[in-house]
Amino acid sequence: MITIEESIKNLLNLEGYSLSVKEFDALIVGGGLSGLRAGLELSKKWKVALVSKVVPVRSHSGAAQGGINAALGNHPESKDDTPEKHAFDTVKGSDYLADQDVVMFMTKEAPKIVVEFESMGAPFSRLDDGKIAQRPFGGAGSPRTCYAADRTGHALLHTLYEQCVRQGVKFYDEFFLIDLVTVDGQVTGGLTLDLSTGELVTFRAPYVILATGGFGRIFEASTNAVICTGDGVGAAFRAGVPMQDCEFVQFHPTCLYGSDILMSEGARGEGGLLYNNKKERFMLEIAPEAKELAPRDIVARAITTEINEGRGYEDAYVHLDLTHLGAERIKERLPGIRDIAIDFAGVDSIEKPIPVHAGHHYSMGGIGTKYDGDFCETSVNGLWAVGENAAVSVHGANRLGGNSLLETAVFGRFIGRKMLERGLPSLPPADELKKAEKKLLLEIEQLFKNWEVNSGKKPVEIREAMGNTLSRNVFVFRKESELQQAVNDLSALQKDFNNVSLKNISSPENRKFNFGLIRTLELRNMIDIAEVTAYASLWRKESRGAHYRTDYPTRNDEEYLVHSMVIRNEQGELEMRTKPVKLGIFEPKPREY
Ligand code: FUM
Repeated sequence: MITIEESIKNLLNLEGYSLSVKEFDALIVGGGLSGLRAGLELSKKWKVALVSKVVPVRSHSGAAQGGINAALGNHPESKDDTPEKHAFDTVKGSDYLADQDVVMFMTKEAPKIVVEFESMGAPFSRLDDGKIAQRPFGGAGSPRTCYAADRTGHALLHTLYEQCVRQGVKFYDEFFLIDLVTVDGQVTGGLTLDLSTGELVTFRAPYVILATGGFGRIFEASTNAVICTGDGVGAAFRAGVPMQDCEFVQFHPTCLYGSDILMSEGARGEGGLLYNNKKERFMLEIAPEAKELAPRDIVARAITTEINEGRGYEDAYVHLDLTHLGAERIKERLPGIRDIAIDFAGVDSIEKPIPVHAGHHYSMGGIGTKYDGDFCETSVNGLWAVGENAAVSVHGANRLGGNSLLETAVFGRFIGRKMLERGLPSLPPADELKKAEKKLLLEIEQLFKNWEVNSGKKPVEIREAMGNTLSRNVFVFRKESELQQAVNDLSALQKDFNNVSLKNISSPENRKFNFGLIRTLELRNMIDIAEVTAYASLWRKESRGAHYRTDYPTRNDEEYLVHSMVIRNEQGELEMRTKPVKLGIFEPKPREY
């Protein structure tokens, strides 16, 4: 088999080797709320390409149910709410691992961003006086989550997409980012696969924004859509950007038993109650004040404990009871989850409790950001990351519900404004650019050829084994032996992936909507992220937020009040570095609810 090096050497000398190149001022990867909001801002002045592997309105932002947090003070019980109180709740919720300067920025921007959505026409639910309605959410001192029934993400996604279309953002739907192009530590664009033609297309731009969302599909089951495979995270990691805080994985307390579809925290915000098989409201003991509305890490552990200790139904779930809310309120405020529970579990929440358990929901970690840069900036010049694929870090060790939609819009807008303020950097000379682009293209062509001649496992076998080991060994409760098992399994699976076998991808004709190829490219990203997640979880010998170690059950600020930053070193091994947490506003304290 010809080596990649030989192939590149031969082909770089070929005159006239054709590259399909598109040039823009900024390339955005990802069509969810973060990417759209950045695109809306940048397209006021610049030529912007937004590439997305699905049509943007099918992005996973559309699945966000419960709402978006902002200290508007509209609710009768939140008249004295402020951005500072919102910041405090967020930092406490994060178990003090969030960077406090960035949290404060986000919560101060929050009321403005919600009003901006309103002015764009977002159909928020309303109070009787016409103001935007707000509901209580977990870990919040008072009701500050603004919502559009239980389909908030869907409403905001469509609103922003319309604005981007109106303003002329150039969309490339169904394009998959394979890798970033860099020259001497500067990003110069990305190599993509046009899913409909099977062609490899290079986008060239001095700024690249990664907004590819979460990567929950590394687990066996998740509330995440099947598209959440960490494509931007994998590409950034291969380009040398550290992966930050990946041990912090959010397990949502109320996933529908049987399918793991999200049953919004909004259900408990509206008054839903949790019961075990003895009909006890177990949260009264665990969190006497916040009760069912304690932060997610705490409720997820409580539910899992009830099930593990035999107080679950069928040893598998507890009950989320909404029946006392009445038909009218459920139909008005929680219509989406009612429909889902009927369709996927045969349970009408007006009449019966919903069977729920904790399941994977969100990744607090992701693409590492610079300590001394602007929010969202990475260590590769010109490369920025925003939304769930980034660790900015506003969520630290545990995110509060309602802060995710907020983060996407606040930092999407921030990045746009910041880039316009800085101006366009110049790209490296054309011959260097071309050389880097061709090199990458040829590496990928060679990779595809290798996949075709390999005789190893099928991608689906590796993917299933990856999900199994993470869901078994890196779940709500963790311990050394199981984490070590996951690390070993994933290192073996990496080797399997190097020999993965895939047929019929040699020509663009065969690559048209070739889902075998797409899933394998996704797996290339996921296997890296899965390995980092297990590695970082094994490294962190303490319990903080969503990372709970039964062998180290307490928080250890002395040694671990730091962000984990994992890189792949020159020997190809994972290596742990750390980054200080930005403190100084709220002093770390024990969390009580
Ligand atoms: O429960 C929910 O509605 C989820 C909200 C969130 O993840 O922010």
